[in-house]
Amino acid sequence: MSPNPATPVSLTRHLLEEQRAGRINADLRLLIEVVARACKSISIAVGKGALGGVLGDAGTAGEASINIQGEAQKKLDVLSNEILMEANAWGGHLAGLASEEMDHSVPISDAQPRGNYLLLFDPLDGSSNIDVNISVGTIFSVLRCPDGIGQPGDEHYLQPGTDQVAAGYCTYGPSTMLVLTIGHGTHAFTLDREIGSFVLTQRGMAIPEDTKEFAVNMSNQRFWEAPMQAYVGDLLAGKEGPRGKDFNMRWVASMVADVHRILTRGGIFSYPLDSKCAAKGGKLRLMYEANPMAFLVEQAGGAASTGRQRMLEVQPTGLHQRVPVFLGSRTEVEAAVKYHAEHD
Ligand code: AHG
Ligand code: MN
Ligand code: MN
Ligand code: MN
Repeated sequence: MSPNPATPVSLTRHLLEEQRAGRINADLRLLIEVVARACKSISIAVGKGALGGVLGDAGTAGEASINIQGEAQKKLDVLSNEILMEANAWGGHLAGLASEEMDHSVPISDAQPRGNYLLLFDPLDGSSNIDVNISVGTIFSVLRCPDGIGQPGDEHYLQPGTDQVAAGYCTYGPSTMLVLTIGHGTHAFTLDREIGSFVLTQRGMAIPEDTKEFAVNMSNQRFWEAPMQAYVGDLLAGKEGPRGKDFNMRWVASMVADVHRILTRGGIFSYPLDSKCAAKGGKLRLMYEANPMAFLVEQAGGAASTGRQRMLEVQPTGLHQRVPVFLGSRTEVEAAVKYHAEHD
């Protein structure tokens, strides 16, 4: 029976087609399906807002629940983490998991079915936006468990971003969208709530090479290093300045929302080093924010850098390691990198 070309392509069909094309094996395909189902559950929780009792801080009255990042956890941070942990406990495709919200990685126990992948995730990205009803998301990255490692420890996750076999995010906005790469392009799926499945709505996202839109938290300007001061100073000078064009600015404070806009219409996202976060290496986390986003962006023809090194080539030294981030339209990222080379 030949498929009707008018039939929407579901995530399941897309992944089966990728498997038939030899680009993915059944285990990784089924792992991605498990993560997508978990994201649907998170989307439902996010969508309930105040009606679902999921807003506000986690922890008991007067005593905040602080995660390893030093952040006060939101209820949705904790709930989203639990949803992803439970979904994968019996998935059978993992050797272990790691999360922004857990101090250390967790190996799959002998009592559970296991596989050969390591799943890392930021269960709820943009937590500061939850209580003000602005888009938030989930970010995930998949690595292979090194051969012969039955119970992987944190050290087994410390693989460069080029070793990722899949990466994606789910953005809980006006529509819920899953954006995914397995190394053969970046593709977008929109959740059809009536049938409860993700439907392919953009095959082969392509970031425009050039842009006039930048995303940065300007309130940190006085804390930036010299290269960033020079780079943004020239951007703000507009067409009378050395860049010769006027720029627009957007900053959502949800990396997923900013990156989705950039994947859709171009732009540059940056969270550079500043004197407040330099001691920690930066603000954003390499393993479950910067690396998965860098993989998605490069697969869409963009670029991702620390300002001084291709993001995907950073050799991790810690599970919760932080890095400076520049990603998006290729020529703009290259311009930012050039400022670092010339002003260091
Ligand atoms: P998370 O909510 O997972 O901790 O991540 C928040 C990150 C990222 O989503 C966003 O780009 C950045 O923090 C915003 O930082 P500022 O609040 O300093 O602007
Ligand atoms: Mn957080
Ligand atoms: Mn985050
Ligand atoms: Mn988070």
